[in-house]
Amino acid sequence: MQADLFSAGSQTAPEEPDASDPPARAAWLRHELNRHNYAYHVLDDPTVPDAEYDKMFRELQDIEAIHPELLVHDSPTQRVGALALTPFPQVTHTVPMLSLGNGFEDDDIVNFDRRVRDGLESLQEVEYATELKFDGLAINLRYENGVLVEAATRGDGYTGENVTANIRTVQAIPLRLQTAHPPALLDIRGEVMMYKADLAKLNARQREAGGKEFANPRNAAAGSLRQLDSRITAQRTLRFFAYGIGGLEGADMPASHSALLDWYASMNVPVCAERAVVKDAAGLLDFYRRIGEKREGLPYEIDGVVYKVNRADQQRQLGFVSRAPRFAIAHKFPAQEALTTVQDIEVQVGRTGAITPVARLAPVLVGGVTVTNATLHNEDEVRRKDIRIGDTVTVRRAGDVIPEVLAYVPEMRPADARQFVMPTACPVCGSPVVRPEDEAVARCSGGWVKCAAQRKGGLLHFVSRRAMDIEGMGDQLIEQLVDKHIITTAADLYKLGFRALAELDRMADKSAQNVMAALEKSKSTTLARFIYALGIRHVGEATAKELARHFGNLDAVLVASEEQLLEVADVGPVVATSIRNFLDDTMNAELIEQLRAAGVHWPEHVVESTPKPFAGKTFVLTGTLPTLKRDEAAAKIEVAGGKVAGSVSKNTHYVVAGEEAGSKLLKAQELGVAVLDEEGFLNLLANPPAA
Ligand code: IVH
Repeated sequence: MQADLFSAGSQTAPEEPDASDPPARAAWLRHELNRHNYAYHVLDDPTVPDAEYDKMFRELQDIEAIHPELLVHDSPTQRVGALALTPFPQVTHTVPMLSLGNGFEDDDIVNFDRRVRDGLESLQEVEYATELKFDGLAINLRYENGVLVEAATRGDGYTGENVTANIRTVQAIPLRLQTAHPPALLDIRGEVMMYKADLAKLNARQREAGGKEFANPRNAAAGSLRQLDSRITAQRTLRFFAYGIGGLEGADMPASHSALLDWYASMNVPVCAERAVVKDAAGLLDFYRRIGEKREGLPYEIDGVVYKVNRADQQRQLGFVSRAPRFAIAHKFPAQEALTTVQDIEVQVGRTGAITPVARLAPVLVGGVTVTNATLHNEDEVRRKDIRIGDTVTVRRAGDVIPEVLAYVPEMRPADARQFVMPTACPVCGSPVVRPEDEAVARCSGGWVKCAAQRKGGLLHFVSRRAMDIEGMGDQLIEQLVDKHIITTAADLYKLGFRALAELDRMADKSAQNVMAALEKSKSTTLARFIYALGIRHVGEATAKELARHFGNLDAVLVASEEQLLEVADVGPVVATSIRNFLDDTMNAELIEQLRAAGVHWPEHVVESTPKPFAGKTFVLTGTLPTLKRDEAAAKIEVAGGKVAGSVSKNTHYVVAGEEAGSKLLKAQELGVAVLDEEGFLNLLANPPAA
């Protein structure tokens, strides 16, 4: 069939047919859209701007509307369905979906490896495929002749629910396998999940709409797949990683687990890159530790790692015990949640005066660390979760983040459990606590002049690593300096003498010297760090960088009107007002002058604010330029109002090519896009064409 020519086969794009041949045009559009989809949703490396994708998508929709005979079920336009009339029908798995045995301690893994070798009667070391244990939902994807025909949840392992309509909306899952020789039948197994960032976005939307929030990515994934209306599922970004196989007909079973995953990857089925092949128990434990260190930085949640005997013949030889394979085991990370009791709820005052209720807990071990305090975020959260003093609660701790109280256990609430009352006066300085109508956060109205807690918080922020980076200036030192009235503002830090420091508790000559040196070193900084260090409400690191880049020098920021501030990327009305309020406060203005007078400095630039010579122009950078780093060239383009794209298309205006430029340069020549070397680029920047 002509229409299937491109969707099934080769990886290389065929010649672009024009609109006079609708079947060929539709097939080409499908091929291109699938390719871009894969790059965007699986590789996280978009190949075309969104607008270009949308244009092609609409063109395909139009062709399909005019020529319904060209519409195929696996067309990229056919992902989103509608409201299902019946709840999810049952599906019987042809090969049961089993579970995994668990190990926690190193010993459990050493024993697993021993059992495997005993079972194989092998004197040689065994090869294992290692991968992540994703915290999502197991799913079976059935492909017939390469086309996705059914998706089912694990259910009880023998029967699950048919969730095909919802799974079709998951952009990362191919509707058709990218191979010229698909097997007659293939059950791909893996995990559907939601990335941390996507869950945060979903919860923000749910909160705004007054809907229910999801406690973790697994619940969010499960809740999204159990939607009767696949249009709702389509609005939630779900992901998928393959890790197993069910039925297979019309192809040979790959000889190893790693080969199976490679095969999947070759067909554009998402496979997680965090995998390895290792030998013996030491190799397993090493993988465990490596991933443990990386865990927080991963964009998705995992609750451990999984080890599988790599060779398929050895897997068969080992077989199964009850409902789990003997050839695989999950090595779980220590639980990040635990139960404990709330002994009291107190409040803490932050650097912006924000009053945070904090639960004092009976000490409990969570993820290997003893936790005694957990944040309750704000008053509304305490009410919403209905946490009371005396309650038994689940606390959660993940990596470096502050432990939080998730929920209380209703059956365990004592009769005398007490409700939390927000104080009306700041517990540190006694100033009234105020809470603006439209805000969730109550604040101490004392400001840093009156409130020592705010002073300490502000100073700690000022010295922190991403701000002025004053090494050795920790909370105990700041605490003493403020409590002993040695310093009040950040400018006072630079007036500190060696003696004053050396005489403080837990300080010696050597440490005082180090702090003096760190203070001196910090004077040479960047404008972005300095702005961030000021601790202006709503001005985080990213905004500080944008402000520095936009204005180039501090005086330009100091005199900028709210309208001018709004021109900065990242700055909205709330932020602009906050910046202006901060700078208009004479105390803050004085602080800034004192810091400059103390010798704090940074490179200043004069930025011509209005001309944007590259506005509306798209650049692509490729190869190595003789002097400019890639980032520097990109910054120059962006400061001049231009855009930097990742790939060359008809919409590219200039390609800046250096040494070893590859396919992008060829593409530019093919499309007749202007190509510049570094000199040409700098010339263009200096003498931009009239708009
Ligand atoms: S293999 C026969 N691999 O863990 C083995 N499972 O307890 C079947 N899971 O229901 C599972 N990551 O939801 C396997 N890399 C991985 C996994 C994984 C997460 C989940 C899956 C399964 C449960 C097994």
